[in-house]
Amino acid sequence: MKKLFAVLILLFMLLSACQPAAETAVEDLPRAGEGVETSAEILVPDYLDPDLPAADRAADLLSRMTLEEKIGQMTLIEKGSITPDAVYDYFIGGVLSGGGGTPRENTPAAWADMVDAYQAAALDTRLGIPIIYGIDAVHGHNNLKGAVIFPHNIGLGATRDPDLVREIVRVTAIEMAATNIHWNYAPVLAVAQDIRWGRTYEVFSENTDLVSELSVAYLEGLQGDSLADPLTALGTPKHYVGDGGTVWGSSLQPNWEIDQGDMRVDEAALRQIHLPPYQANIEAGAQSVMVSYSSWNGTKLHGHKYLLTDVLKGELGFEGFLVSDWQAINQIGPNFYESVVTAINAGIDMNMVPYNYKLFIDAMTMAVENGDISEERIDDAVRRILTVKFQLGLFERPFSDPALLDLVGSEPHRTLAREAVAKSAVLLKDDADVLPIAKDTRLIFLAGEGADDIGIQCGGWTITWQGGKGPITPGTTIKTAFEDAFDGLLFYNRFGKYDHILDGNGNPAIADVGIVVIAENPYAEGEGDSSDLTLSDLEIELISRVAERSERVVVLVMSGRPLVITEALDLADAWVAIWLPGTEGQGVADVLFGDAPFVGKTPFTWPASMEQLPLGSYDTEPLFAYGHGIEK
Ligand code: GLC
Repeated sequence: MKKLFAVLILLFMLLSACQPAAETAVEDLPRAGEGVETSAEILVPDYLDPDLPAADRAADLLSRMTLEEKIGQMTLIEKGSITPDAVYDYFIGGVLSGGGGTPRENTPAAWADMVDAYQAAALDTRLGIPIIYGIDAVHGHNNLKGAVIFPHNIGLGATRDPDLVREIVRVTAIEMAATNIHWNYAPVLAVAQDIRWGRTYEVFSENTDLVSELSVAYLEGLQGDSLADPLTALGTPKHYVGDGGTVWGSSLQPNWEIDQGDMRVDEAALRQIHLPPYQANIEAGAQSVMVSYSSWNGTKLHGHKYLLTDVLKGELGFEGFLVSDWQAINQIGPNFYESVVTAINAGIDMNMVPYNYKLFIDAMTMAVENGDISEERIDDAVRRILTVKFQLGLFERPFSDPALLDLVGSEPHRTLAREAVAKSAVLLKDDADVLPIAKDTRLIFLAGEGADDIGIQCGGWTITWQGGKGPITPGTTIKTAFEDAFDGLLFYNRFGKYDHILDGNGNPAIADVGIVVIAENPYAEGEGDSSDLTLSDLEIELISRVAERSERVVVLVMSGRPLVITEALDLADAWVAIWLPGTEGQGVADVLFGDAPFVGKTPFTWPASMEQLPLGSYDTEPLFAYGHGIEK
């Protein structure tokens, strides 16, 4: 059909060229529906008119669509499960990269080529509806090698700085745009109440107001002043609602304990603790919301019509589209057909299938034919999806812009990340006033695996879903940063063994300062659910070993949540929480050696023992209160 348009327009142009200037450029031609007969029989449909409001364009396009095309728009598939040809054949509306869903060559150009290939196929369909390509760029464009990896949200929570968060995410949207991806499954709006949860580091805080403030800044950074701006991305506040309020032991996933579990609170608590960030993000312009795997008092959110439709779309006035989480519909019940019907009728609009899309499309088709899902519900979902696609400018700007490629991982972006790392550091204890370390310090010993490992420093959701140890992407480790930060000698030994370092008398040298990095290994989602956050015996021995060879000892806690450090607290003079800083380790050196002040405040209550979890379930004093952080 589009080719026919092109031929007619070309013919019209050729005929015009043979006659006195027709003075009527194509864009000045009468519009469909204006009832004017024209000699050239050219009518540009309303949905292709960029000057019309998105809602009008969506209504026009919807009126032209078949049921098959509508169901295709509601289907979101992982790129590993679908080819561009199948996007064409099934009129697919969305493609995503799951964690680690990279092209064969993990470079910005290869990413842009991959997305462009899906887009070209979509534009070839009868109505030429572009796909929307989504990704989890939760702390930078974190699947892309060479992208700047920012501190995870728990570190941003420690900065208490919405302007910084907004700027970080604006940069993230630019690095995403370089790969032609304009839909980010972020920010997380969870108000985590139990730090044993493996997703705690994706969360800004345990405090509802701080989550609202920083998640709105995150959304504003992504979406800018207009979604049509080529350097912006659609945000996706997630996971609606109460994903951070589930109870330990309620997860239905094998080997997981709390992730995707059941939130057992009354509606007043839901509305007081977990709902306000969504209200704030809707008011800030959220046009896509992802639904939570979790349940509320035993009912799966993905099938919860009251919360999805009556509360979010009705009471809160959400006009965007609801997207399901990864295969989450399957968890509603044992019968897939019934689960699909329940989910769509509850209010889900776009469905992250992500694998067997034919099964989903068949179930949807059958459900409409059986009358189990109404055409009105289908039209409502498709209208919401199309409206956002028009707002994003995808019809006018479907392909990548190679001029943006060099912006990925650029120095200004890294400098911003370095600033965020410094501001996220929380000085928990420094009784002996050890910090900052003087730059003329003679000898420093550094220990701990996390001191020299970019993968550990970045944490989960980096290059792969779970993240991983080692040089997984370009960046500056703590060790490299320290070597450049002071004038003296630094010896690094992962195990804190410096036997070969002797003083002038041939005795074991004593460092002026010993620095130990205690780190969590990378994890994501329920893989990080942990019943024991206390330091291991090996970690305590490491601190003691370094202390034996140092005048003063500083411990850096590189983790996705507070760890229970009480037993080791007195083994070191100073303790600093550096969370999961990402690729720019220099930010840690900046605060440790006095080039930046300590300003961070812990966004979570720091427990003295495991008995003090979940939040509020105890009346004894925590080790450090919510908001604690020494400034100097
Ligand atoms: C995951 C997560 C969700 C993410 C989605 C796509 O399972 O729950 O946060 O956006 O799948 O990767």
